[in-house]
Amino acid sequence: EKDGYPSFMEKEIHEQPRAVADTLLGRNDSHGKLTLDELRIDESILRSVDKIIVIACGTSAYVGQVAKYAIEHWCRIPTEVELSHEFRYRDPIVNEKTLVVAISQSGETMDTLMAVRHAREQGAKVLAICNTNGSTIPRESDAVLYTHAGPEIAVASTKAFLAQITASYLLGLYLAQLRGNKFQDEIKTILTDLAAMPEKIQAVLDHEQQIKDLAVSMKDVNSVLFLGRHVGFPVAMEGALKLKELAYIHAEGFAAGELKHGPIALIEEGQPVFVVVPSPNGRDSLHAKVVSNIQEVRARGAKTIVIAEAGDEAVRQYAEHVFYVPATSTLLAPLLTTVPLQIFACALASEKGYDVDQPRNLAKSVTVE
Ligand code: M6R
Repeated sequence: EKDGYPSFMEKEIHEQPRAVADTLLGRNDSHGKLTLDELRIDESILRSVDKIIVIACGTSAYVGQVAKYAIEHWCRIPTEVELSHEFRYRDPIVNEKTLVVAISQSGETMDTLMAVRHAREQGAKVLAICNTNGSTIPRESDAVLYTHAGPEIAVASTKAFLAQITASYLLGLYLAQLRGNKFQDEIKTILTDLAAMPEKIQAVLDHEQQIKDLAVSMKDVNSVLFLGRHVGFPVAMEGALKLKELAYIHAEGFAAGELKHGPIALIEEGQPVFVVVPSPNGRDSLHAKVVSNIQEVRARGAKTIVIAEAGDEAVRQYAEHVFYVPATSTLLAPLLTTVPLQIFACALASEKGYDVDQPRNLAKSVTVE
């Protein structure tokens, strides 16, 4: 059932173009209008929402951070992201105008389920983004937007992550459409960009050997850092989490802007640092800022491994290794930049002889608080 792959994880990494395509399927008509009929929350309620809180754990919580950037930009609705277990036990401010979005691959994560119950008790509407039909979290929520990644067997989440990100973009675009704000043209462009994603993810997978070779050459490292800005920040944290989970290597993801506030003290000769670089054609000076972060760590001896957009020549001179991904709009980049980090962690752990499908101490769904 592994279809010839050495692990479920590798199989699932390769199923990502399909997971994203299936999650998009049937949710966008030919005129660039989104239809999320299944949502079942009254449109007037969705129009009156004045705050969104995303609750989730682990990898699903990183989806929440990507969703925050996208939803706030497209919908101008204040959006918070909180780990379910923190949300539940801190007396959060939630009311009838709050939309709580619970993201869970399994739909059985106890921390998230308890947070869902708490939010509903306070009068909030809860929308679940979930990959498992009929599981507890969607059953206990007001509405559900299913991801169609198919069953995810490996403990480490990969294809569900990309499908969840896709679903949260759909939610953001849908709310923006519903509320008729000024971003309607951008929404059309984004929908076109989204439709092209499965092909672009496949293009990243087609070049996986480069990142696998790198992983093999780094099998004896004992610490890896990951840097990103904007939506690249949660991608950096996801890259670090994958490496911890699978290869049992100390890894940390930082917001690149935070470097000078402390983490740069960790950099010494030979320290591997992955940097997720935004598109040079994106907004503001995001790209220039990240390039200068690469220079800062390099000047202190870091071995820099850069994930950048195809054609970005500016990063080459500061990078030990560059891995290029196809161009897309800034907010959608996580669907591409995460993939090499997944491949890296999986290949490095396999090279160390570890069981990537069943890492030590972990369970696929955490059904205890
Ligand atoms: O099923 P859920 O999405 O609620 O699971 C949340 C986390 O337990 C999960 O994402 C975990 O962090 C994975 N092991 C990540 O690879």
